[in-house]
Amino acid sequence: TNRTFTMIKPDAVAAGNIGGILDMITKGGFKIVALKYTALSAEKAGLFYEVHKERPFYQGLVDFMSSGPIVAAILEKDNAIADFRALIGATNPADAAEGTIRKKYAKSIGENAVHGSDSDENADIEGNFFFSAFERF
Ligand code: GTP
Ligand code: MG
Repeated sequence: TNRTFTMIKPDAVAAGNIGGILDMITKGGFKIVALKYTALSAEKAGLFYEVHKERPFYQGLVDFMSSGPIVAAILEKDNAIADFRALIGATNPADAAEGTIRKKYAKSIGENAVHGSDSDENADIEGNFFFSAFERF
């Protein structure tokens, strides 16, 4: 389908990279459907990443994602899920291709600048987690 969900994570917000990342997203052909500067409480971060709750990095991930403000967005483009994951690059910036957002802005596998949905179903769930119908254009 044609929509995905993203967050600019606390590391990238704190480093002053909101503008640079939004610029790469729009230059990559994605239209912004919804956009919000907000923060996740530890409880909300835990819910958002519940699928990872048995993983060893879960607590660190929750702590990190609730450590400061984020930017949440719904993005539209043909083939949005796969094209956005290509634009952000590999989870570990050491493996991320040249020209990707994580290659340019991520610090480590944990503090990796951006999130991108991994399926149409999760894009809907994640978008609904942050945005009402009145906040989408
Ligand atoms: P997201 O777009 O954020 O979902 O990243 P992803 O789909 O590339 O990775 P995945 O869903 O597997 O993991 C979610 C997040 O958990 C990653 O973005 C990382 O921030 C973190 N993470 C994943 N694997 C590791 C790991 O091995 N160590 C640490 N410290 N963090 C990890
Ligand atoms: Mg993921």
